[in-house]
Amino acid sequence: MVDVKRAGEHALPTETRIWPLKRFTEIHKRSVEDPERFWAEEARKLDWYKTWDRVLEWDPPYARWFVGGKLNASYQCVDRHVKTWRRSKVAIYWEGENGETRVLSYSTLFYEVNRFASVLLRLGVRQGDRVALYLPMIPELPIFMLACARIGAVHTVIFSGFSAKALCDRVDDTQARVVITADGGYRRGKVIPLKHIADEAADICPSIEKIIVVKRSGEPVSMKEGRDLWLPDLLAEAESYVKPEPLEATHPLYVLYTSGTTGKPKGIVHNTGGYMVFNHSAYEWVFDIKEESIYWCTADVGWVTGHSQIVYAPLSHGAAMVIYEGALDYPQIDRWWEIVERYGVSIFYTSPTAIRMFMRHGEGWPLRHDLSSLELLGSVGEPINPEAWMWYYKYIGGERCPIVDTWWQTETGGVMISPTPGIEPIPLKPGSATFPLPGVDAAIVDTDGREVRTGETGLLIIRNPWPGMLADVYGDPQRYRESYWSRFPGAYYTGDLALRDQDGYFWLLGRADEVLKIAGHRIGTAEVEDAAVSHPAVSEAAAAGRPDPVKGDGIVLFVTLREGAQRSPELKRDICRHVRDTIGPIATPDEVHFIDLLPKTRSGKIMRRVLKAIAAGQSPGDLTTIEDEASIDEVKRAFASIR
Ligand code: WT7
Repeated sequence: MVDVKRAGEHALPTETRIWPLKRFTEIHKRSVEDPERFWAEEARKLDWYKTWDRVLEWDPPYARWFVGGKLNASYQCVDRHVKTWRRSKVAIYWEGENGETRVLSYSTLFYEVNRFASVLLRLGVRQGDRVALYLPMIPELPIFMLACARIGAVHTVIFSGFSAKALCDRVDDTQARVVITADGGYRRGKVIPLKHIADEAADICPSIEKIIVVKRSGEPVSMKEGRDLWLPDLLAEAESYVKPEPLEATHPLYVLYTSGTTGKPKGIVHNTGGYMVFNHSAYEWVFDIKEESIYWCTADVGWVTGHSQIVYAPLSHGAAMVIYEGALDYPQIDRWWEIVERYGVSIFYTSPTAIRMFMRHGEGWPLRHDLSSLELLGSVGEPINPEAWMWYYKYIGGERCPIVDTWWQTETGGVMISPTPGIEPIPLKPGSATFPLPGVDAAIVDTDGREVRTGETGLLIIRNPWPGMLADVYGDPQRYRESYWSRFPGAYYTGDLALRDQDGYFWLLGRADEVLKIAGHRIGTAEVEDAAVSHPAVSEAAAAGRPDPVKGDGIVLFVTLREGAQRSPELKRDICRHVRDTIGPIATPDEVHFIDLLPKTRSGKIMRRVLKAIAAGQSPGDLTTIEDEASIDEVKRAFASIR
């Protein structure tokens, strides 16, 4: 049993232990009563070339924020700081997996962003063009993002763990002509041949005209004449200053792909003004960032956490941060604690999966290090179980640091539900993300859209537009409407289950749809199924999530075989490898089962509830209300035929 009360009390400095929350409640009330006025005040914290004519044009389901306003995200993140003493402040402490280090001050970052922007311009990249970034966690990745933002090009970062096919799908969807990659990236001591993978993608992706290659690993790579260019050669001719483009607030900043309920990932579009304003404010509220903070978010820039919480929010505040390239257990399981100690990290933000991994190896590893610089801890990406919360609180935070459990999504752009120590410390409950941020009107409803009662589980919706919200699904407005705005008209549907307790605290309970969270990464069961049926021996496939004590969800794959294919352990392994090669290592099934027939409803839909039950090792008897969907015999047969 977790001692909830004790943790909540200990996480707060005594003098601020106040209840009810005064400042927070007042600000939140003001923000939902007059959102336009509230957000206009927040927006004034950024630098604008021209202020907006209207704070919000809300034509459901499209919200246009700060209409008529002009700004530049790269200006917010670098130019603004080099005009002050921060020019000599450290922006990035970079640590390579192989022990290499680089330190970039704000002035060096400014210089590099300008030169990279010049490289893009010289290659003919113009405002509105899409640029694909397929890079490891090296400083060149944020620098290229900011360089794109500087000239108004729209970046689309593709996680460096994705396969050639996944890379190609995303590049193809945006029709990016330029791909930026590296000769290799380090992961657990091995080199991932990124350029080679990009070559494979280019073979099947006709939009790719140029590949810029960053030197990282020094591995030999093949360079195709006329298409491939080394970054150092391009930089040799680059200008040292490129004027930031004053962009409309509604100009897209980036497209980032995320998984939904179909096989095709969605290109989530974020626009410049709303996204920057929302993230700038939320970052201050959630992380209570101070000039002297040393901040470290362990996410990969390939996911939204990296976009908002490594690049745009911290840099817009002129924060000093750590970026680490590699695996958490390389060369051994205390690598992260060694980094915290060495750089004196004060704010540390990671995922529940990582915490559970460390728990498994025991507190001996963190206890070996001096972690007394830590002041605030954060968690993101999946529900954190109270046991992991307590372990984090005790052994990493030394029972002194509050934990901000931050709920948000690729689509929301920034943190939506979280404690806000930057406004006022909120008494914490292990496993609860506490309350919606100012400007966020969250509710939990039943399938008819009626608010559920205290303690009842329902679907989480957001009842108002907020500046960080996605602007669209790239090239697919219909999917934007259908996925987010049609289930509960006028409200944004998150796809998450949640409940509120007697104190009004929000508890996020996982996905309500066919999206899995594997080590905090989002993968749709349909993507896994599409990959599986592209294997020559597979006829039909169904994927289900199975609770995993460390990763959150694991993947169990059920397949029916084509005629003539022989069931064998080798075939299982081969199907597994095929899925992994098609999507990337994060989508590797934990188990593959052969099944004679997939249990389906009368209308032909796969009965995932049955498969989930099988995946979780339950019996057909545990499924009580199945009769109206299919015959119980069919379900029993499905169970019986599993191998
Ligand atoms: C989904 C969004 C948020 C950036 C990284 C993930 C789950 C996220 C929490 C949390 C419980 C969480 C939700 C959400 N999730 N944070 N603190 N507690 N669940 O972004 O890949 O778009 O995934 O992650 O299920 O819908 P994403």
